[in-house]
Amino acid sequence: MKEVVKLKNGENFLFRHAVESDIDGIWNNFNEVVDEGIYLPVFFPVRSKFEKQSWFQNIKKEREICIVAIHPTLRSPYNILGQCEISNLEWDAATHVGSLGIIVQKKFRDLGIGFNLIDKAIRESKRLYNKEKIILSCFSDNERALYLYKKIGFKMVGIRKKQFYMDSDYYDEIMMELWIDDYLNKNT
Ligand SMILES: CC(C)(COP(=O)(O)OP(=O)(O)OC[C@H]1O[C@@H](n2cnc3c(N)ncnc32)[C@H](O)[C@@H]1OP(=O)(O)O)[C@@H](O)C(=O)NCCC(=O)NCCS
Repeated sequence: MKEVVKLKNGENFLFRHAVESDIDGIWNNFNEVVDEGIYLPVFFPVRSKFEKQSWFQNIKKEREICIVAIHPTLRSPYNILGQCEISNLEWDAATHVGSLGIIVQKKFRDLGIGFNLIDKAIRESKRLYNKEKIILSCFSDNERALYLYKKIGFKMVGIRKKQFYMDSDYYDEIMMELWIDDYLNKNT
């Protein structure tokens, strides 16, 4: 899968599966969001080369999805504007379910990158690995992410009250899910 999409700023961005040379860009994006300190229940950035490489090898080994958005002119690692991962659950009996995580660089938000990353990741997870359902979770105050997930068709299925404690505050966790066939039927 390789697709060029013209986004809201008029520029063409490439969407494709992650390759090994994208690893630094992907982890830079992750670490930037960890530093923002409001979107992920993670305190520490990942700096270890070994950990970054192992993550990528695991995606290949476990047959998981990572779609990246590529800037047309920026150089590696700054060309990786965002990523959407669909990972497997730990359960033998839930191989039809994927768990979604997504990050877009702060400077490039609200252009449609998030929407396109999720759209392509969902389609590829069905096409390649026959996933049927995608699940995710999100802080209840992450308005942009919740808006986007609902726009795509994710339904809220639960809330874990005060699931996270960060910077002297509790955060509720919203749980959502989407049946891929429902999504594909509405978005052919
Ligand atoms: C959430 C995230 C992945 C979305 O990516 P993105 O590229 O900005 O997404 P898009 O541009 O496709 O869509 C964003 C939408 O939210 C809307 N939006 C922006 N701020 C908003 C707000 N405060 N409330 C509601 N909607 C908002 C935008 O208008 C846009 O909608 P539209 O395309 O219908 O006009 C990205 O913002 C991000 O990486 N955030 C930080 C990390 C994060 O929260 N990850 C998810 C953790 S669960």
